[in-house]
Amino acid sequence: MGKRTIVAMPGDGIGKAVLDETIRVLDAAGFEAEYLEGDIGWEFWRKEGNPLPQRTLDLLEEHKIGLFGAITSKPKDEAFEELAPELKEKGLVYSSPIVGLRQHFGLDICARPCKTYKGNPLNFIRRGAGSDIEEPEVDVVIYRQNTEGLYGGVEWSNPPDQVYDALMTHPKFKKNFGSTPKEEISISTRIFTKKATERILRAAFEHAKKYGYKSVTVCEKPNVIRETSGMMYKMAQQMQKADYPGIELWNTNIDAQMMWLTKNPENYGVIVAGNMFGDIVSDGFAGLIGGLGFACSAQMNPDKGIAVFEPTHGSAPKYADYPVSIVNPIAMVESACMMLDYIDENAIAAKIRKAVAEVVEEGKVRTYDMMKMTGRADVVEKGAASTIQMADAIIAKL
Ligand code: NAI
Ligand code: MG
Repeated sequence: MGKRTIVAMPGDGIGKAVLDETIRVLDAAGFEAEYLEGDIGWEFWRKEGNPLPQRTLDLLEEHKIGLFGAITSKPKDEAFEELAPELKEKGLVYSSPIVGLRQHFGLDICARPCKTYKGNPLNFIRRGAGSDIEEPEVDVVIYRQNTEGLYGGVEWSNPPDQVYDALMTHPKFKKNFGSTPKEEISISTRIFTKKATERILRAAFEHAKKYGYKSVTVCEKPNVIRETSGMMYKMAQQMQKADYPGIELWNTNIDAQMMWLTKNPENYGVIVAGNMFGDIVSDGFAGLIGGLGFACSAQMNPDKGIAVFEPTHGSAPKYADYPVSIVNPIAMVESACMMLDYIDENAIAAKIRKAVAEVVEEGKVRTYDMMKMTGRADVVEKGAASTIQMADAIIAKL
């Protein structure tokens, strides 16, 4: 394989620190790539009135693969306040560049693996049958539909007449909400399409097949949310029967799943869900394997071959200006490993994961989160590894 071109989008806050260190790890592991910097985030909102400039979209369109750090988002009014003075009259409205990226490229498949590292002091533990302590090994991948559902943005407060009238044709709306004044009603829709549902289910089953997971769990709420969750589960049943008879199909409700994930997380393999429930359940599982310093993700559109890999954490602004960066780069490094798998550089991905596993298990080098410290500028003086020192330790193992 020749040299790859990767669009590197550091974004804001700690995004730059974790991305820089991750590229150092990739270099050390022998991944040959050129990194083109993609502008994204708050700085570009302030200076240009657009946190996701067209030139960044063009770069991704051309080179297909992106590594992304994190961005800062702020509420509407604050966003306006921070705009450059000459842009204030232009009627610009801030919207999240991450959501923008997903929508622009149709990155509808989101994968979030949550796998226990042996020896991670942040691993979930539970009481066993006696008074013994058990540390179940979690190896779950959540497939989250990334563009529709409750995050689809089809919402109204005080809905227009056409919408209100249409809703009034539904007997349940009429009975339960028909006497409430229109001005007192807010509506957020949950729209699932067959096409996107089929794609996320297919991606989940394919992952289970490729990596030998024994089950796929649809985590929704079909007994109550009958149309959307119901459609997803029914389609999963048909797909499993037709194409994946060797993989078990399980069905859990999101609420019960949040309880079970601390009782028997080791029982689950691949989990698939709509946008919001996928967001919830993936944060739940991430908490069992170390939380934000360890939670990685991929957002993909397999048809276009475009994919963006990123840690699930944000820009942690309060740590951004520390003279020495203290945050854990492992979530970003793991996200880069997902990228390597995606472009069939599996051997390099495996090498990096092994190095990370060795560092974590050895326990000599730990960032502040792994030492259960409160994040402050002086944690490094107190024995925590800096972002750079963690990357150095991983590189040493390579
Ligand atoms: P956050 O994820 O930035 O930080 C929450 C807390 O988690 C931090 O204060 C820190 O204690 C910890 N943390 C985060 N990353 C860590 C790491 N790598 N190592 C160790 N500890 C880590 O979320 P928050 O504070 O809710 O949001 C901050 C900004 O980030 C906001 O502007 C928000 O909109 C944005 N955000 C961006 C995301 C993205 O770019 N994908 C996702 C989530 C939030
Ligand atoms: Mg989330």
